[in-house]
Amino acid sequence: MDSIVVAGNGPLHGQIPIAGAKNACLTLMPATLLTDQPLTLTNAPRLSDIRTMTELLGSLGAEVASLQQGQVLALSSHDLTSHRADYEIVRKMRASILVLGPMLARDGHAVVSLPGGCAIGARPVDLHLRALEALGAELDLRDGYVHATAPGGLKAARFEFPIVSVGATENALMAATLAKGTTVLVNAAREPEIVDLAQCLRRMGAQIEGEGTSTITVQGVDSLGGATHPVVTDRIELGTYMLAPAIAGGSVECLGGRLDLVQAFVDKLEAAGVEVEETALGLRVTRKSDRLQAVNVATEPFPGFPTDLQAQFMAAMCTADGVSLLEEHIFENRFMHAPELMRMGAQIDVHGGTATVTGVEKLRGAPVMATDLRASVSLILAALAAEGETVVSRVYHLDRGYEHVVRKLGACGAKIERIKA
Ligand code: UD1
Repeated sequence: MDSIVVAGNGPLHGQIPIAGAKNACLTLMPATLLTDQPLTLTNAPRLSDIRTMTELLGSLGAEVASLQQGQVLALSSHDLTSHRADYEIVRKMRASILVLGPMLARDGHAVVSLPGGCAIGARPVDLHLRALEALGAELDLRDGYVHATAPGGLKAARFEFPIVSVGATENALMAATLAKGTTVLVNAAREPEIVDLAQCLRRMGAQIEGEGTSTITVQGVDSLGGATHPVVTDRIELGTYMLAPAIAGGSVECLGGRLDLVQAFVDKLEAAGVEVEETALGLRVTRKSDRLQAVNVATEPFPGFPTDLQAQFMAAMCTADGVSLLEEHIFENRFMHAPELMRMGAQIDVHGGTATVTGVEKLRGAPVMATDLRASVSLILAALAAEGETVVSRVYHLDRGYEHVVRKLGACGAKIERIKA
């Protein structure tokens, strides 16, 4: 298995291009299943999760051509040959459940494996299923699979999500585009990835209002057509690279960065003593002081502070001046990076959903292990300012969500390399 070696090396200076959003692309790709016309996605990120979704769609008979070094995906679901998403693929990636709503909406039947366990808590899919049931789906759970049917097609409904779920909102939104009548989704997720999906579906002919607010209204149509759609900027990759100069010092311009995607995160970064400026090309981040100030963070659904930036922010707080409380409100068991950061000398106490981080002057390089996608990049960030060398193993987690990490950070002066196993 490959590893990444980082030698703490002082301030970073340069520009980092931010890719299209993994999580947006993973919901836009299954939208191909809603139509027999071609869907083209531009600004796609080059990631193993995207390859997994390509494999899943391929197993259903959809065609996915990867063009321009993977930055353009041409998708067609003209001739679906299967409506069964197998466990072997679904278990690799939870987002696979997003094929359920579209297949059911277009063809009235689908069989999708339940995703199973996940490293960051139980993560059930009950809300996806309840929303689809509200739209008239009949569901039978057996042998680890959801067998879903809607013989006369899906029917519009009013559905209120008991808690905010990004994935369940996406599944319900896609399904509702072809349901008969007017669907109202209440307490819907407001994430930029939902807005991006709604914009793409509208390009395909869907009638949607209210995306980006907690009530989304969908007027069902008989069929959807093809479209070309650019994937929104990855706000999590953006926030991650904004933390690099915050931790190592220096000044980095994140190309394609947009404040509206990361406002709650930027508020915390500024409170910690980092300057963030809008430029013609994106966002420039500059650390002004020798040391960051400790700040408290609580993760919330958008527009709150994203759970997917909690691990990276913790890496920054490890060497901040003072004590910071990091509260995780979205997922249980999402502090697995804490023991690894402690191997580098960080002082962290985890009690339930709260981590108390007491800043130390310096971290020390150590062999550490990536436990999930965001945890893995938090270790790389921490290593940028640590004394000595850090070796991060199990970097396949990183490949799921970050393209060209070594190249992007290396171009700004970081001493970082990938060692092939
Ligand atoms: C998406 C993102 C993930 C991010 C998360 C929260 C993708 C591919 N992944 O995940 O990176 O961390 O949003 O911003 O877009 N829940 C249920 N039942 C369900 C669904 C969710 O109880 O049926 C719970 C989850 O366990 C969690 C909370 O709801 O506690 C929010 O999860 P959700 O927003 O659904 O996350 P994902 O869509 O899986």
